[in-house]
Amino acid sequence: MNTPRQELEARVALAVGKAFSPVPPGPYVRPCPDSRHGDFQTNAALVQAKEAKANPREVAAQLIAALDLSDIADAPEIAGPGFLNFRLKPAYLAQQVRARAADGRLGVPTVVKPETVIMDYSGPNIAKEMHVGHLRSTVLGDALARLYCFIGHKVVADNHIGDWGTGFGMILYGYKREGDAEKLRQDPFGHLEGIYRRIQEESKTDETVREAAKRELVLLQQGDAKNRELWEQFRTYSLAALDVMYQRFGVQFDYTLGESFYNDMLPGVVAELQKKGIARESEGAVAIFSDGTLPQKDDPFLVSDKGEFRDNPLLVRKSDGGFNYATTDLATIRYRHDHFHAERVIYVVDGRQQMHFRQLFEASRRWGYTEMKLEHVWFGTILGPDKKPFKSREGENVKLRALVAEAEERAAAILTEKRPEMNEHERGALARIVGLGALKYADLAQNRNLDYVFTWEKLLAFDGNTAPYLQNAYVRIRAIFRKAGLTEAPQAEVILTEPAELALSRKLLDFADSIFMAAEEYRPHYLCLYLFELATFFHKFYEACPVLIAEPPVRDSRLVLCDLTARTLRQGLNLLGIEVVEQM
Ligand code: ARG
Repeated sequence: MNTPRQELEARVALAVGKAFSPVPPGPYVRPCPDSRHGDFQTNAALVQAKEAKANPREVAAQLIAALDLSDIADAPEIAGPGFLNFRLKPAYLAQQVRARAADGRLGVPTVVKPETVIMDYSGPNIAKEMHVGHLRSTVLGDALARLYCFIGHKVVADNHIGDWGTGFGMILYGYKREGDAEKLRQDPFGHLEGIYRRIQEESKTDETVREAAKRELVLLQQGDAKNRELWEQFRTYSLAALDVMYQRFGVQFDYTLGESFYNDMLPGVVAELQKKGIARESEGAVAIFSDGTLPQKDDPFLVSDKGEFRDNPLLVRKSDGGFNYATTDLATIRYRHDHFHAERVIYVVDGRQQMHFRQLFEASRRWGYTEMKLEHVWFGTILGPDKKPFKSREGENVKLRALVAEAEERAAAILTEKRPEMNEHERGALARIVGLGALKYADLAQNRNLDYVFTWEKLLAFDGNTAPYLQNAYVRIRAIFRKAGLTEAPQAEVILTEPAELALSRKLLDFADSIFMAAEEYRPHYLCLYLFELATFFHKFYEACPVLIAEPPVRDSRLVLCDLTARTLRQGLNLLGIEVVEQM
């Protein structure tokens, strides 16, 4: 099913092909910036006029003559210097709304060329509890995985956990001294983090502790049975604890391969890079340097230093023989290519790693992985009220568990106030959905490249661009159906006459566009904004157009609009990883 924009695009493309030669490049149609002038517009005539050095309004008239739109839009008007504005016909809108209402996918097409897409997100370093710093990657990555899956790609969600870092040397050393198997089982993060912190502190002043921790790490890396067994335990219990959180979040992975999985491949990767002349030895280490093929300012292996460019190598083997974060990522790229036949890899990782990924992608290109699309979908920092990275009162990272718990508590308090008669059990269940939804949405609704200030009040507000506002719009519609004694909308003609009905219908038809825009640019906030506008248009419609007291053909038509709105909200929120409720 074409969206109205796609349909117009196809028609305009046809006309452009007939009227102009050479044909100016598309896309031609975009939404009208001011809806008073039309629903969509094209600047094709302007582009052509500039190219052919002709009068734009005359060119626009030629384009109109070649256009056949009579079944979908009013006769186009020439606006300003030579834009064409299009206004969709009510009958076309009505027919399109009806078609979407009858479609399980609500009119959202699937992509023509499905790809195997690896979604790399969350990726916490284990042996540490997840904190607020992991919220964005987890929530954004989950939404993108859902979006890509929904539009027809084959998504492989892979949690690239940090389970093989230098930290394990300290943990092993400390655990052998003061570890407790029971505590590890009960509270793996609490126990391991405590140990890690003490050893890290001691190693600052005590050379022998530092050396001992290093020895433990080398033993682990050499495959020492005892250390390997302990590490397995740390990993198993940490993963189980992480899983509790993921379940609470409704987030699922297909794989949790993690850094350790690639460990045995690393020497081979470095050898191959050296053989191909991509990496070379330097001061005992092995690193990748600029090959001079890129313009200096675009070369990630160079940095500008007071106007001069100097080397900015990517280390793939340390001088002590150990491997780097980047080495593992290179091995991962090869594995994802060879094993999964990935066509695209999406890394949902903090913006502070931009340089790492620029170097990684350029190194992969030189290594020969030129077909696979590699995207660093980066995000900014969550800030506290003081505009500094969000920390607890004690100055620690806020644990994700605490954040969710507080969201639930606050949601429960609001629900108690709004619906004092609700029983405890029902309120608890609702608060979990509303609290978590609000937390996720507050993140997803932001432009991911910006830092944002975290405020509970904003997040849980029942009006504004928030999850509770959208969930509430859904609840309102469900209440209409309950009141009417209906479980679903009637199969009815759609009749659009009132401006509020027309506005809501136009918005309903934009659903697919918002989804594709969010997916293509890896920006779920486009979908959030769409849902917020949809809910706003619904409320305006609901104020202006009585539903249940209207006469039958209009009543049924309005019920169709209500139902399609509810299903669009539910599907949209679901793609963001947020549930709806029937009452709140
Ligand atoms: N563990 C990493 C960190 O905490 C994130 C991993 C991201 N994924 C990757 N393939 N590098 O920063």
